[in-house]
Amino acid sequence: MTRDVEVFAGGVAVITGAGSGIGTGLARRAGVLGMTVVVADVNEATAQTTVDAIVTEGGKAEAIAVDVSQPEELDRLAEIVFARHDAVRLLINNAGIETVGYTWEVPTARWEATLNINLHGVIHGVRAFVPRMIASGKEAWIGNLSSVGAFGQMPAQTAYTVTKHAVQAFSECLYLEMELKNLPIHVSTIVPGMMRTNIFNAEGGEGEPGQSQGHRRAMFAMMRDYGMDLDEGCRLFLEQMAENRFWVHSQPEMSTQIIGGRVKFLTEQTAPLMPDLAREIAVD
Ligand SMILES: NC(=O)c1ccc[n+]([C@@H]2O[C@H](COP(=O)([O-])OP(=O)(O)OC[C@H]3O[C@@H](n4cnc5c(N)ncnc54)[C@H](O)[C@@H]3O)[C@@H](O)[C@H]2O)c1
Repeated sequence: MTRDVEVFAGGVAVITGAGSGIGTGLARRAGVLGMTVVVADVNEATAQTTVDAIVTEGGKAEAIAVDVSQPEELDRLAEIVFARHDAVRLLINNAGIETVGYTWEVPTARWEATLNINLHGVIHGVRAFVPRMIASGKEAWIGNLSSVGAFGQMPAQTAYTVTKHAVQAFSECLYLEMELKNLPIHVSTIVPGMMRTNIFNAEGGEGEPGQSQGHRRAMFAMMRDYGMDLDEGCRLFLEQMAENRFWVHSQPEMSTQIIGGRVKFLTEQTAPLMPDLAREIAVD
């Protein structure tokens, strides 16, 4: 039996943003590993599509509509899940959105949505689930979606980049809190490189400045053409989590290169270095 099956089979998984992309890939993989999967997404229809896929593949799943930007919705999710099941073995705080546009051009509402979904969504997921995980007394695994973007700078994706730097720091501190309290809860930072998803969907993010849409379209095309296959990436993520690794990567060589750049930047204290890509896709 492989380590991921040994660790996860028979347990309950809760995955936010599982109606699309990485969330769907993780949910389907958790189903294949023999978990009962709670597919949580703000979009109930796409969450149900993920459930149908898992059931077709012989797994068990249920869809629950949740907006992770609303703290009380995560409380309600945790309440429902723990009323139906005695423990949650795997929690993945995955829901996230991309926002493009220069800092001063992104409207306040879009800044707030980005922070509330990408950062507060992760914090409230942990705040709602961890007390119940502790009370269950069972071993559990939490994965929070970071990004290679958590280690670099990307102009005109500032809102997104800020949230990923913050989620990375959050997971590092959370890991240490578990250690300090001697709790059987493993924390991982999940660092996707570039995976083929719709995060830069062609329709654009609600409220984004119109002039930034060229940047969005260029990123969408790049991920479509060069992004990693989701099944492969999500298999790797759960394999690494089952080994209790803090660092979980889809493309370790890409992570190493970008983290190496950050180490150099911090050590040498240079001015921020413009990524080549930023110049290539820069818009007015
Ligand atoms: N795709 C990549 O290459 C990549 C790289 C680095 C990090 N990530 C991270 O992976 C995570 C998933 O991204 P993806 O690429 O699969 O994107 P995606 O757009 O394909 O999927 C995101 C899902 O989150 C859901 N969602 C959005 N707002 C929500 C809310 N308020 N409440 C609940 N669900 C909500 C969407 O409905 C969608 O189903 C994100 O946190 C993203 O930052 C992705």
